[in-house]
Amino acid sequence: MAAPIKIVGISGSLRKASNNSGLIRSAIELSKTVVEGVEVEYVDISNLPLLNTDLEKEGTFPAEVEAFRQKIVGADSILFASPENNYSLSAPLKNALDWGSRPPNVWGGKPAAIVSVGGGHGGVKSHYHLRQIGVFIDLHFINKPEFFLNGFLPPAKFNSNGDLIDEEVKDKLKHILLSLKAFTLQLQGKI
Ligand SMILES: Cc1cc2nc3c(=O)[nH]c(=O)nc-3n(C[C@H](O)[C@H](O)[C@H](O)COP(=O)(O)O)c2cc1C
Repeated sequence: MAAPIKIVGISGSLRKASNNSGLIRSAIELSKTVVEGVEVEYVDISNLPLLNTDLEKEGTFPAEVEAFRQKIVGADSILFASPENNYSLSAPLKNALDWGSRPPNVWGGKPAAIVSVGGGHGGVKSHYHLRQIGVFIDLHFINKPEFFLNGFLPPAKFNSNGDLIDEEVKDKLKHILLSLKAFTLQLQGKI
Protein backbone atom coordinates (compact mmCIF):
# COMPACT_ATOMS: atom_id res chain seq x y z
CA MET A 1 0.00 0.00 0.00
CA ALA A 2 1.24 3.51 -0.82
CA ALA A 3 2.48 5.65 2.08
CA PRO A 4 -0.13 8.15 3.26
CA ILE A 5 0.13 11.76 2.15
CA LYS A 6 1.56 13.86 4.94
CA ILE A 7 -0.52 16.98 5.48
CA VAL A 8 0.65 19.62 7.94
CA GLY A 9 -2.25 21.48 9.56
CA ILE A 10 -1.60 25.07 10.62
CA SER A 11 -4.06 27.27 12.49
CA GLY A 12 -3.74 31.04 12.33
CA SER A 13 -5.48 31.43 15.68
CA LEU A 14 -3.54 30.98 18.92
CA ARG A 15 -6.65 30.97 21.11
CA LYS A 16 -6.99 27.86 23.28
CA ALA A 17 -10.63 27.31 22.29
CA SER A 18 -10.07 28.45 18.70
CA ASN A 19 -12.65 27.23 16.22
CA ASN A 20 -10.09 27.38 13.43
CA SER A 21 -7.78 25.06 15.38
CA GLY A 22 -10.89 22.93 15.94
CA LEU A 23 -11.12 22.50 12.16
CA ILE A 24 -7.56 21.14 12.12
CA ARG A 25 -8.38 18.75 14.98
CA SER A 26 -11.42 17.58 13.08
CA ALA A 27 -9.32 17.04 9.94
CA ILE A 28 -6.95 14.89 12.02
CA GLU A 29 -9.91 12.84 13.22
CA LEU A 30 -11.28 12.47 9.69
CA SER A 31 -7.87 11.32 8.44
CA LYS A 32 -7.96 8.53 11.01
CA THR A 33 -11.50 7.46 10.22
CA VAL A 34 -13.13 8.25 6.88
CA VAL A 35 -10.42 9.73 4.64
CA GLU A 36 -7.99 7.04 3.65
CA GLY A 37 -4.43 7.66 2.56
CA VAL A 38 -3.78 10.92 4.37
CA GLU A 39 -2.13 11.74 7.66
CA VAL A 40 -2.74 15.17 9.21
CA GLU A 41 -0.35 16.59 11.79
CA TYR A 42 -1.09 19.79 13.71
CA VAL A 43 1.93 22.06 13.72
CA ASP A 44 1.89 24.78 16.35
CA ILE A 45 3.03 28.26 15.33
CA SER A 46 2.53 29.94 18.70
CA ASN A 47 6.16 29.54 19.74
CA LEU A 48 7.63 31.22 16.67
CA PRO A 49 9.33 34.53 17.47
CA LEU A 50 8.15 37.59 15.59
CA LEU A 51 10.01 37.76 12.32
CA ASN A 52 13.36 39.47 12.77
CA THR A 53 16.14 38.54 10.40
CA ASP A 54 18.70 39.60 13.02
CA LEU A 55 17.80 36.26 14.68
CA GLU A 56 19.32 34.40 11.70
CA LYS A 57 22.98 33.60 12.26
CA GLU A 58 24.97 32.66 9.18
CA GLY A 59 22.02 30.97 7.52
CA THR A 60 20.77 29.25 10.68
CA PHE A 61 17.48 30.01 12.36
CA PRO A 62 16.31 30.03 15.99
CA ALA A 63 15.56 26.44 17.12
CA GLU A 64 11.76 26.91 17.05
CA VAL A 65 11.90 28.37 13.56
CA GLU A 66 14.16 25.59 12.30
CA ALA A 67 11.85 22.93 13.78
CA PHE A 68 8.86 24.58 12.11
CA ARG A 69 10.64 24.84 8.77
CA GLN A 70 11.61 21.15 8.92
CA LYS A 71 7.94 20.20 9.48
CA ILE A 72 7.06 22.04 6.27
CA VAL A 73 9.96 20.47 4.36
CA GLY A 74 8.69 17.02 5.41
CA ALA A 75 5.08 17.73 4.40
CA ASP A 76 3.48 16.68 1.13
CA SER A 77 0.84 19.37 1.48
CA ILE A 78 -0.49 22.04 3.83
CA LEU A 79 -3.92 22.63 5.34
CA PHE A 80 -4.34 26.21 6.56
CA ALA A 81 -7.12 27.15 8.99
CA SER A 82 -7.15 30.89 8.48
CA PRO A 83 -9.15 33.22 10.72
CA GLU A 84 -9.99 36.60 9.21
CA ASN A 85 -8.67 39.58 11.13
CA ASN A 86 -9.63 42.98 9.77
CA TYR A 87 -10.32 41.58 6.32
CA SER A 88 -7.01 39.73 6.10
CA LEU A 89 -5.16 36.71 7.43
CA SER A 90 -4.00 36.69 11.05
CA ALA A 91 -0.66 38.12 12.11
CA PRO A 92 0.56 34.78 13.57
CA LEU A 93 -0.11 33.03 10.27
CA LYS A 94 1.65 35.74 8.25
CA ASN A 95 4.58 35.47 10.65
CA ALA A 96 4.81 31.71 10.07
CA LEU A 97 4.56 32.16 6.30
CA ASP A 98 7.35 34.74 6.38
CA TRP A 99 9.69 32.56 8.46
CA GLY A 100 9.11 29.67 6.08
CA SER A 101 9.81 31.88 3.07
CA ARG A 102 13.33 32.81 4.18
CA PRO A 103 15.86 31.20 1.86
CA PRO A 104 15.64 28.43 1.06
CA ASN A 105 11.83 28.90 0.82
CA VAL A 106 10.28 25.77 2.36
CA TRP A 107 6.81 26.35 0.88
CA GLY A 108 7.87 26.10 -2.76
CA GLY A 109 5.82 23.69 -4.85
CA LYS A 110 3.60 22.48 -1.99
CA PRO A 111 -0.09 21.88 -2.62
CA ALA A 112 -2.34 23.57 -0.04
CA ALA A 113 -5.93 24.14 1.01
CA ILE A 114 -7.59 26.85 3.09
CA VAL A 115 -10.46 26.50 5.53
CA SER A 116 -11.79 29.20 7.78
CA VAL A 117 -14.37 30.03 10.39
CA GLY A 118 -15.09 33.63 11.22
CA GLY A 119 -17.78 36.29 11.41
CA GLY A 120 -19.98 37.62 8.58
CA HIS A 121 -18.56 35.89 5.55
CA GLY A 122 -16.83 33.10 7.39
CA GLY A 123 -13.30 34.41 6.98
CA VAL A 124 -13.30 34.18 3.19
CA LYS A 125 -11.50 37.50 2.74
CA SER A 126 -8.46 36.01 4.47
CA HIS A 127 -8.37 33.34 1.75
CA TYR A 128 -7.65 35.87 -0.96
CA HIS A 129 -4.74 37.46 0.86
CA LEU A 130 -3.35 34.03 1.65
CA ARG A 131 -3.68 33.00 -1.99
CA GLN A 132 -1.94 36.21 -3.06
CA ILE A 133 1.00 35.48 -0.74
CA GLY A 134 1.04 31.94 -2.15
CA VAL A 135 1.81 33.35 -5.60
CA PHE A 136 5.17 34.63 -4.41
CA ILE A 137 6.11 31.76 -2.11
CA ASP A 138 4.99 29.21 -4.70
CA LEU A 139 2.16 27.46 -2.87
CA HIS A 140 -0.42 25.76 -5.08
CA PHE A 141 -3.92 26.00 -3.66
CA ILE A 142 -6.86 23.80 -4.54
CA ASN A 143 -9.69 25.95 -5.91
CA LYS A 144 -12.62 23.72 -5.11
CA PRO A 145 -14.41 23.00 -2.92
CA GLU A 146 -14.33 26.25 -0.97
CA PHE A 147 -14.69 26.16 2.79
CA PHE A 148 -15.64 29.19 4.86
CA LEU A 149 -18.04 29.10 7.76
CA ASN A 150 -19.85 31.71 9.80
CA GLY A 151 -19.21 30.46 13.32
CA PHE A 152 -21.68 32.79 14.99
CA LEU A 153 -24.90 31.70 13.33
CA PRO A 154 -27.03 29.16 15.25
CA PRO A 155 -27.11 26.24 15.63
CA ALA A 156 -23.67 26.04 17.27
CA LYS A 157 -21.11 24.30 15.08
CA PHE A 158 -18.44 24.10 17.80
CA ASN A 159 -18.49 23.28 21.50
CA SER A 160 -16.92 25.52 24.15
CA ASN A 161 -13.50 23.89 23.58
CA GLY A 162 -13.60 24.80 19.89
CA ASP A 163 -14.27 21.22 18.76
CA LEU A 164 -16.31 20.87 15.58
CA ILE A 165 -19.60 19.15 16.45
CA ASP A 166 -21.60 19.62 13.24
CA GLU A 167 -21.80 16.55 10.98
CA GLU A 168 -22.65 18.51 7.82
CA VAL A 169 -19.60 20.73 8.29
CA LYS A 170 -17.45 17.66 8.96
CA ASP A 171 -18.61 16.29 5.64
CA LYS A 172 -17.54 19.51 3.90
CA LEU A 173 -14.16 19.26 5.59
CA LYS A 174 -13.88 15.68 4.40
CA HIS A 175 -14.26 16.89 0.81
CA ILE A 176 -11.48 19.43 1.32
CA LEU A 177 -9.17 16.60 2.43
CA LEU A 178 -10.19 14.45 -0.53
CA SER A 179 -9.57 17.32 -2.95
CA LEU A 180 -6.21 18.14 -1.36
CA LYS A 181 -5.24 14.48 -1.51
CA ALA A 182 -6.15 14.21 -5.20
CA PHE A 183 -4.33 17.45 -6.08
CA THR A 184 -1.23 16.35 -4.14
CA LEU A 185 -1.11 13.02 -5.97
CA GLN A 186 -1.63 14.85 -9.26
CA LEU A 187 1.24 17.29 -8.61
CA GLN A 188 3.47 14.40 -7.53
CA GLY A 189 2.67 12.68 -10.82
CA LYS A 190 1.11 9.70 -9.04
CA ILE A 191 -2.29 9.91 -10.77
C1 LIG B 1 -8.50 41.69 15.73
C2 LIG B 1 -9.66 40.92 15.17
C3 LIG B 1 -10.17 41.26 13.94
C4 LIG B 1 -11.23 40.53 13.39
N1 LIG B 1 -11.66 40.85 12.14
C5 LIG B 1 -12.58 40.07 11.53
C6 LIG B 1 -12.93 40.28 10.18
O1 LIG B 1 -12.44 41.16 9.51
N2 LIG B 1 -13.84 39.44 9.62
C7 LIG B 1 -14.41 38.41 10.32
O2 LIG B 1 -15.22 37.65 9.76
N3 LIG B 1 -14.10 38.18 11.62
C8 LIG B 1 -13.19 38.98 12.23
N4 LIG B 1 -12.83 38.73 13.52
C9 LIG B 1 -13.50 37.65 14.23
C10 LIG B 1 -12.70 36.36 14.13
O3 LIG B 1 -12.38 36.01 12.82
C11 LIG B 1 -13.56 35.29 14.75
O4 LIG B 1 -13.72 35.59 16.09
C12 LIG B 1 -13.00 33.92 14.57
O5 LIG B 1 -13.99 33.00 14.88
C13 LIG B 1 -11.82 33.69 15.47
O6 LIG B 1 -11.32 32.46 15.19
P1 LIG B 1 -10.90 31.43 16.33
O7 LIG B 1 -12.15 30.94 17.00
O8 LIG B 1 -10.20 30.39 15.56
O9 LIG B 1 -9.98 32.17 17.28
C14 LIG B 1 -11.81 39.47 14.12
C15 LIG B 1 -11.30 39.14 15.37
C16 LIG B 1 -10.24 39.84 15.88
C17 LIG B 1 -9.68 39.44 17.23
